[in-house]
Amino acid sequence: MNGITILGAGGYNPSFAMTNEMLTEFIDTSDEWISSRTGIKTRLMSPDKANYQMAAEAAKAALKSAGKTAEEIDFIIVSTCSPDFYYPNMACLVQKQIGATGCPCIDINTACTGFINALDIARNYLATGDYKTILIVSSERLSSHVDYNDRGSCILFGDGAGAVVVEKGEDKPYYSILGAEGDMFEALYCKANYKPNFPKFDGNEVFNELIDTPEKECYLQMDGKAVYKFAVDAMANAVDKVLQKSGLTIDDIDLVVPHQANIRIIQSALKKMKVADEKVFTNLENHGNTSSACIPVGLSELMESGRLKRGMKICLVGFGAGLTYGACIFEY
Ligand code: ACO
Repeated sequence: MNGITILGAGGYNPSFAMTNEMLTEFIDTSDEWISSRTGIKTRLMSPDKANYQMAAEAAKAALKSAGKTAEEIDFIIVSTCSPDFYYPNMACLVQKQIGATGCPCIDINTACTGFINALDIARNYLATGDYKTILIVSSERLSSHVDYNDRGSCILFGDGAGAVVVEKGEDKPYYSILGAEGDMFEALYCKANYKPNFPKFDGNEVFNELIDTPEKECYLQMDGKAVYKFAVDAMANAVDKVLQKSGLTIDDIDLVVPHQANIRIIQSALKKMKVADEKVFTNLENHGNTSSACIPVGLSELMESGRLKRGMKICLVGFGAGLTYGACIFEY
């Protein structure tokens, strides 16, 4: 089987740290409430860099870590649900910022599951042999979507970017499970600011509803309880299914890197998966939920600290708006 080899990883951490104490200055909440319900103490926010600039910083760090130049990259995939532009896509903007030329550039959006989907796309392109060295960047500036009057959601999210450089891993295992439940989209969404500059016509209710979207719905809308319930089951089931597909057991896995949404979601899912706490990476306490950036930022921190060793079997698992979910197992 041909899997992937992660040659290098890099992250970008925004400059501003919004603590739980700071949030109490403008919403009715407390450090105790947020810490005990979510595990988050601080979320990083980017007041000075656009999303594509954060993405480019993470990409440069990943290239450096991989010992590759921008010219050696022959495909760029960006996952984001918070782009700065409708078009061009973020991957084209990253390509320009890092000085890569000519390679295809695509964006994908499966919200917080984005990195797992992007890795899967890269793995398939690498397996065909059409491309040799792929840059994946997951970058999010959710502070631009969050309603800071909504104490039920604004406490969770932060900004950040993570990137990896991948090539084919000859004879390395790679298994994945991906899925989506579009009928649950209303549990977590953010509508586009959709204002056509032509007169409104009668006839299509859906279309007119989009035009009349209340301003509030152009910020992130979340049914926290519904997402919570979905997330615990979706993560545990995805890991179970990907283990079955691989023929491995949870004891064969050296490290689980889950989406960093909420420590209670991670703990409840892990209990169902019967995975030991020490095999699970978390960093949400200091980053908050940075959507699709969580996992590659985690991988870059794990690489930098020397915790990742060649030959380790890694399991990534996540969920997000859609609602989407995914898990993969690969050898580092
Ligand atoms: N501070 C104090 N009180 C609060 C706060 C707050 N920040 N937020 C809500 N409350 C109150 C509510 O008003 C409610 O009060 P009431 O009982 O008087 O009405 C009470 O606390 C309980 O509110 P719930 O919403 O039921 O709280 P819950 O225990 O469900 O926790 C939370 C909320 C933390 C958001 C949880 O539901 C959660 O983590 N859900 C998952 C969300 C998630 O992971 N989203 C990211 C998805 S990934 C992506 O794609 C972006």
